[in-house]
Amino acid sequence: MFRRNKITVIGGGATGATTAHLLALKELGDVVLVDIQPGVPQGKALDMWESGPIEGFSMKVVGTNDYEETRDSDIIVVTAGLPRKEGMSRNDLLKVNSEVVYDVVEKASKVSPNSIIVVLTNPADVMAYVAQKASGFPHHRVMGQAGVLDSARFRTFLADALKVSPKDISAFVMGGHGDDMVPLVRYSYAGGIPVEKLLPKETIDKIVQRTRTGGGEVLSLMKTSAFYAPASSLADMVKAVLLDERRILPVISYLNGEYGERDIYVGVPAIIGGNGVEKVLEVDFTADEKEAFKKSVNSVREPLTLLSVGPKA
Ligand code: LAC
Repeated sequence: MFRRNKITVIGGGATGATTAHLLALKELGDVVLVDIQPGVPQGKALDMWESGPIEGFSMKVVGTNDYEETRDSDIIVVTAGLPRKEGMSRNDLLKVNSEVVYDVVEKASKVSPNSIIVVLTNPADVMAYVAQKASGFPHHRVMGQAGVLDSARFRTFLADALKVSPKDISAFVMGGHGDDMVPLVRYSYAGGIPVEKLLPKETIDKIVQRTRTGGGEVLSLMKTSAFYAPASSLADMVKAVLLDERRILPVISYLNGEYGERDIYVGVPAIIGGNGVEKVLEVDFTADEKEAFKKSVNSVREPLTLLSVGPKA
């Protein structure tokens, strides 16, 4: 018999709740929203479920503090942890969030042993590594979200400068989800035309810089972390997996020799389908891009060595 997909979203804060609602609106499956705070996930989930008759979705949304209710989920989205506050780098969250992520992933993966895990909690590259250790899942079934968001920002700004629809912009951003991420201008197109042919270099340089600090720009305005575009990015990744779309998306994937790196999770383009990360795609770099990627990888590797589950320095 066919059954509906079951999606667990861990963390009932702004990002988790927005993601849960989007998943229901997009009819990707029944959604279980989990949080440690009593009443909060239950209340938010009930509120979302009650939007179903208006929005026209058939999915059930439930909230819980108990992982038993997440049993046999097909996919687990991890947003639990503290968000960035103004003046904080994503790495300032390292210690507290690695403990939270380890704990929630250990609990959730036990009751959904065949699931795929998508991690958003910052620092996301490091947290994907922690989630894989906590679950013991094969690496391809654990991935992190960053590149879909970073490239959505890049695409938004490129589209705005070109005065065209963002739908026609394809662009991607590689490396760690920090201010030294690597927006790849050479691989960015508007309707199939390289953006370098359509925009002056100074404009592109400004857009690259704005993309790198895109999370910080929202943060400095509203004094807490962005959540609408992050939630949309998560929903897009969940869709790619549950519908086995085999999308090419920039995601935080485990590298085992690709790009000359091993035992690290970092943002790279990959084919995302029903098995999670189906394949990491390797693109050619110029010398400058190679150096920028290496620098970004190193800024992920450094905090990793501080964790008890991390590789030894
Ligand atoms: C951002 C946070 C989610 O980039 O890292 O907005």
